Amino acid sequence: MTSNPATGDRPENQESQVTTPPSLRAPAPARPLILGVSGASGLIYAVRAVRFLLLSDYTVELVASKSAYMVWQAELNIRMPADPSAQEEFWRQQAGDVTTGKLRCHSWQDVGANIASGSFRTLGMIVIPASMSTVAKLAAGLSSDLLERAADVQLKEGRKLVIVPRETPFSLIHLRNLTALAEAGARIVPAIPAWYHHPKTVEDLVDFVVARAFDQLDIDCIPISRWEGY
Ligand SMILES: Cc1cc2nc3c(=O)[nH]c(=O)nc-3n(C[C@H](O)[C@H](O)[C@H](O)COP(=O)(O)O)c2cc1C
Repeated sequence: MTSNPATGDRPENQESQVTTPPSLRAPAPARPLILGVSGASGLIYAVRAVRFLLLSDYTVELVASKSAYMVWQAELNIRMPADPSAQEEFWRQQAGDVTTGKLRCHSWQDVGANIASGSFRTLGMIVIPASMSTVAKLAAGLSSDLLERAADVQLKEGRKLVIVPRETPFSLIHLRNLTALAEAGARIVPAIPAWYHHPKTVEDLVDFVVARAFDQLDIDCIPISRWEGY
């Protein structure tokens, strides 16, 4: 595991197996993508998602749940600022000082934000990582904070909702809630990497999961190596 942890960049002499995805060359669509970051372990999934979307000039509306603040503290000993503009700067720094793309952060309490309304058109939403608490609340249609409301809106509007659950093992309740979400039209992309692409770094493993989540929205902006047969 020898890459730069902030950027995932490999040393120069290490041969890359990847090809440039088409959307690194094509202009990103104007509609925003919503990222919901809940209080599950694995904030690195969200950091890498932000990094690649902004590098490809996407517009990102980000909402972190109340518990996500605690996970930042527990996993990385970092305090995530609550103020939306300070939080935008924070995510850009965590993503490797990315200056491109558009990022707007929202408070988990702000249920009057743009993304709380179906009239605000989006590409869809990815909840990454998704805790079992958030999965349960989404399955029940609770909308008790902005993350849950924004996800509920994507479902009611027939837009794409991608859930990246992080828990192990799953209880029967977790599985039933995930099934209910799949039945309602959500795509379930567990944080389970593959190994056939010969990952060498933690970022290789993380990026594979994030890229498969992006695939559900037809977003191809992560240079992973894809299986092309023998
Ligand atoms: C360090 C830490 C790691 C956690 N990891 C997970 C996890 O991987 N999966 C999960 O379902 N909950 C996890 N939790 C518990 C959730 O944070 C907790 O259930 C919380 O209520 C989730 O709220 P939210 O879904 O609104 O973000 C973790 C909590 C902490 C403090």
